[in-house]
Amino acid sequence: MADLPKDLLTEIKSLEEAFTVDTTKLKQITKHFVSELEKGLSVEGGSIPMNPTWVMDFPDGYETGTYLALDMGGTNLRVCEITLTNNKSEFDIVQSKYRMPEELKTGHSEELWEYIADCLQQFVETQRSDKAPVQGKIPLGFTFSYPATQNYIDEGILQRWTKGFDIDGVEGENVVPMLDAALAQRGVPIVVSALINDTTGTLIASAYTDPKMKIGCIFGTGCNAAYMEHCGSIPKLAHMNLPADMPMAINCEWGAFDNEHKILPRTKYDIIIDKESPRPGQQAFEKCIAGLYLGEIFRLIMVDLHDNKDVHIFEGQDIKHLRKPYTLDASFLSAIEDDPFENLQETADLFKDKLQLTCTQPELELIRRAAELIGTRAARLSACGVAAICTKKNLQPCHVGADGSVFNKYPHFKARGAQALREILDWPAKSNASEEDPVEILAAEDGSGVGAALIAALTLKRFSKGDVAGILHPENFNVAQVHFDDLGVYIITNFTIGAEAVEKAEDAALIKHRRDIFREEGAKLAVILPEGIEINGVIQLALF
Ligand code: BGC
Repeated sequence: MADLPKDLLTEIKSLEEAFTVDTTKLKQITKHFVSELEKGLSVEGGSIPMNPTWVMDFPDGYETGTYLALDMGGTNLRVCEITLTNNKSEFDIVQSKYRMPEELKTGHSEELWEYIADCLQQFVETQRSDKAPVQGKIPLGFTFSYPATQNYIDEGILQRWTKGFDIDGVEGENVVPMLDAALAQRGVPIVVSALINDTTGTLIASAYTDPKMKIGCIFGTGCNAAYMEHCGSIPKLAHMNLPADMPMAINCEWGAFDNEHKILPRTKYDIIIDKESPRPGQQAFEKCIAGLYLGEIFRLIMVDLHDNKDVHIFEGQDIKHLRKPYTLDASFLSAIEDDPFENLQETADLFKDKLQLTCTQPELELIRRAAELIGTRAARLSACGVAAICTKKNLQPCHVGADGSVFNKYPHFKARGAQALREILDWPAKSNASEEDPVEILAAEDGSGVGAALIAALTLKRFSKGDVAGILHPENFNVAQVHFDDLGVYIITNFTIGAEAVEKAEDAALIKHRRDIFREEGAKLAVILPEGIEINGVIQLALF
């Protein structure tokens, strides 16, 4: 950078000042974060919602059954059928992706639910067409990754849209009956039995294969985390008289951290992003670190340096493409940071192709530094959230399961985050490179698919033990699942086992067909059926 013109160097210096978050500041943010997490759990509440999710246990790896899951992410809709197999921590997955049309994100509520119901119908008709017809309704785990109040696991009252969504008529409403109604209207035999946040799904899916996982995070279009709290530490649930040591997964919705702008180092670009967003004053933390905003922060810097400074980058060129809000996404910054060439040739090509701009060598240097500063700030601020939960719950040592495009694809995000954790939590230097850090942020399992299936399985397990806390429609859990095992035995899972249940089951068509006895197998009931009787998929026993 030695040959940069003086005025460009000055601009780089001032960007460095604005975007660098030093160790002292990281520690201050983390401290404030811990108290905000507490506040969110209190009766009075704070700006971080800390939503109880009614996910009340970690999986033990022995969950089984076949489940349908829907993931309504920011970019795609994904429908999956997940089978948790009889082998510990193993699963099979069949899935279809559907594009989420851009216009739906700012349209009307009915159009959204109709589109989702159509996708589910298509999936059931194509992916499940080889299966026997379904009796009763198939329970669905719905991953709805927006802040939602859940008085029950099968309820989700949208607190506010995030990630640029702005659909009329949904905020303040329970989204479950909305989707159920659209499904019923089409005669699609599906009913939402659990509403899940992607972070809770990530937490549970990661713990399924790695019991050291104690936090689930998403660093993607949006950002957020979930962890397991004890009911005794959730004053806002005290009126429910739940046992103090009972676990309860909390969807933090930490994107809302510091909405009152007390501690985060905000730049003038962050202020513009907030002001121009559909929800000004909301998601202050998310707007500094999530994928949706990283490219926009960068674009605003570039426009500012063209219009308002002595340097006038891209002098004499028409920057009309650069003027379009949200025209650059996080992958644009990733590509800049990934440019392997000393002369930043790939960055130059990128600017030419995407923005029709020719960059001088000093401009390319500035572009690279701006991308590094934005990406580094995002990773370091993210670490404050992780450190805050670890501090609050005294979780060291532990693993943190993380997913999302920024975590998986943004260059150096993991290493920068790990470095910031080391600074915040004052870890001593490693004695050898292969040693684990006390808190390791690792790639998570698929939370919105496998996690949703596991949450459905855990809820069924709870239900079959007679624990219906936080379940609004227990009748949706009266579902037994039947599938064929290698020995020619139909295994029924999710089935209440007990003398009374067995007696009642004998009246059911399923059991009348039995050729032989059924036997108890832990939480499963195995029935040997006569040849020629085809039963597969999900069967509604509706007995118990
Ligand atoms: C949403 C969260 C979600 C996160 C990651 C945020 O905008 O409010 O519910 O977990 O994005 O998808």
